Amino acid sequence: MEQRLIKEFLARFSESAEKIRIFFAPGRVNLIGEHTDYNGGYVFPAALTMGTYMVVRPRKDKMFYLGSTNFEQKVSFSLEELVYKEEDDWGNYPKGIIKELAALNVNLTGADILYHGTLPNGAGLSSSASIGMTTAYGLTELFNHSIKRVDLALAVQRMENTFIGVNSGIMDQFAVGFGEKDHALFLNCATLETEKVRLALPNYKIVITNTNKRRGLADSKYNERRDECEEGLKTAQTVYSSLQNLSELTVEMFNEIESKFESDIIKRRVRHIVTENERVVKAKEALNHSNLREFGELMKASHESLQFDYEVTGKELDVLFMLQRQVEGCVGTRMTGAGFGGCTVSIVREDAVKTFKDSVKEDYEKQTGLTPTFYICDIGDGVKELKGVIV
Ligand code: GLA
Repeated sequence: MEQRLIKEFLARFSESAEKIRIFFAPGRVNLIGEHTDYNGGYVFPAALTMGTYMVVRPRKDKMFYLGSTNFEQKVSFSLEELVYKEEDDWGNYPKGIIKELAALNVNLTGADILYHGTLPNGAGLSSSASIGMTTAYGLTELFNHSIKRVDLALAVQRMENTFIGVNSGIMDQFAVGFGEKDHALFLNCATLETEKVRLALPNYKIVITNTNKRRGLADSKYNERRDECEEGLKTAQTVYSSLQNLSELTVEMFNEIESKFESDIIKRRVRHIVTENERVVKAKEALNHSNLREFGELMKASHESLQFDYEVTGKELDVLFMLQRQVEGCVGTRMTGAGFGGCTVSIVREDAVKTFKDSVKEDYEKQTGLTPTFYICDIGDGVKELKGVIV
């Protein structure tokens, strides 16, 4: 793969004596803990082996020339014009990161960059954090400026919040930055403390199913949920005045104040956050004790909470959920990521994977008119340089 990408890079950009380097950042799948990150809660994602490659070579003229094997459009800009432009489309992600790095005093002098993504875009597997982290890490390495990974993750989040305009939390950037092969990452989003938990699933596979539903309104609904949580927090603070975020509420505390929420919608949003946090903690314990049955039950409860209380699933995800949970050998299944389309994640016994795919495909097509895509995932490492490539 790396040699092929270098060939492609050289075909697009002129030859030069400067050394080409290759970086890779994965996408992520979240096992459980959805919409908790921006409420200071727990999440439990893992890095995938699918992700974004960046082939890069420095320039000295302050220009950036970007190409991608996934999109025809080429994007170029100078260090002096780091502004969001609608027509730059996907190029706004790297551009926003370059702006963030410049603000962190990284001495950038320009670069030629070719990206190659193996993640489906807009499917809830964090293609945006992936391109963001490979660019952030790759350029700081290229320009010999060491920045802590946590600060790179925060820079990528700032880029998404301020440059792109999606108020995402910190889960994706952390999973992409700190993931480790065969491990899930338990992250406390209030303190940013992490714990790696071995994902030993002998005889089981993690299967991602893509609804292939285009996610039109995702961003605005996402921001709407954030606003609803803010409102819920204000109500909770009228009783618990020192509360910093919704994740500090336990289920018992929530039960005490349930009647204070005038809006049923806000009450349900808060209930999701509170119960989901509890599920993440239990899920980590279940995994530590190799209790897959319990882990799977928590996944299903998480989906139902996202369906009925948080209302971010939608027809396609719910159809997949209903079909998948009925398959013998599927111990757990739920939507993953922001929702409103995108993917589900399931834990399926190895010898049942074929039946799982065949039966789900057929029934899902019948019920939605869409064809799903399945990915049997391997859990990989966080962002890194691919060394040993001869150029
Ligand atoms: C998106 C956001 C994350 C997180 C999830 C929902 O992936 O980027 O920060 O909020 O949705 O859990």
